[in-house]
Amino acid sequence: MRLVKIDQCRPGMRLGKPIYNDKGKILLAKGAELIDRIIPKLQKYNVTTIYIEDEVSEGIEIVESIPEALRMEALNTITEGFQTLMDLSHSNTNLQGMMKSGRAIRSFQKVFKDILSSLTDNENALNLLAATKVHENYVFNHSLNVSIYACQLAIENGLPLKNIEEIGLGAMLHDLGKLHIPQNLLNKPGELTKEEYALVKQHCAKGFDILRKIHEIPLPVAHCALQHHERIDGMGYPRGLKGDEIHKYAKIISVADVFDAVTNPRAFRPAVMPHQGLEILYAGSGTQFDTHQVSLFKECIAIYPPGLTVTLNDGRTGIVTQYNYQAAGRPEIRIIKNEENENVTPYEINLGAKENLTLEIVMADALM
Ligand SMILES: [Fe+2]
Repeated sequence: MRLVKIDQCRPGMRLGKPIYNDKGKILLAKGAELIDRIIPKLQKYNVTTIYIEDEVSEGIEIVESIPEALRMEALNTITEGFQTLMDLSHSNTNLQGMMKSGRAIRSFQKVFKDILSSLTDNENALNLLAATKVHENYVFNHSLNVSIYACQLAIENGLPLKNIEEIGLGAMLHDLGKLHIPQNLLNKPGELTKEEYALVKQHCAKGFDILRKIHEIPLPVAHCALQHHERIDGMGYPRGLKGDEIHKYAKIISVADVFDAVTNPRAFRPAVMPHQGLEILYAGSGTQFDTHQVSLFKECIAIYPPGLTVTLNDGRTGIVTQYNYQAAGRPEIRIIKNEENENVTPYEINLGAKENLTLEIVMADALM
């Protein structure tokens, strides 16, 4: 399996991963042939890359960070739970409402426990969580991804289980307030006006307001919603908190939030590759993000995940086959083009091996 740019996709190519519709249901299954009309449809939704199976990438496996069935279950829980909490926030609190919100929170906690045990069973660095989807409602998928990244980062921090579970819940609910913001504003292709941006920024306080009233939610979890757009240098919102005024949970979630946001396509910009996502985090390290959290996050994710096409400093091109746990920047690669950019019979090299230490990855992308 390998990652290919959408404009290089041709009908007849076989899909390496499923494509989902806007209800989260499978539109095209893994192994299905790419049909003519789906390519423009994907482009319309700003999908820039997809995974395909072909001869040259045979045997390259991309390990899912959590099993597909769990991902679907979690997405349903998040979608339904968000709706329940939103509906209740519009009505007066009564006993029935409190029971409903309690039930929703317990289902979030249950699904997060499953995610946590799946992550602790799987010792791999997290592969990119950018699923190919024709999905307008970005919030649910993003909430799930952020909770997975934040959970891994919380584990990397060596935090006790109670804190990891609170961070996971806080991450799932951090953007709850976005349900109050008009959908067309969140998906607006162009730049937001000052007034529109002010409206979008309100999602932090709105989410906090709903969460702090729910008995089952510990206050620090509600603060994840309130504080995840604060910045270390005090230039964030809504309160302009600085450094350690920001809760540790929010520092963790802010790193996970931005990484997932930039590595997924949106209506107003295409996605970047994981190593570029990490560069964005480093660029904001110490100003936007907590320096320590950025360096810990580097250990959590696969910078050059299997299936990515890379070019080496000697001009050869290959596909990443294996992640390197000792040195994330030096994976194993299947060479498919020589120094002159001509196709060759594929062979594998290990950038982590002593004889290859002069080689460097100079470019990484979907198939170029
Ligand atoms: Fe947010």
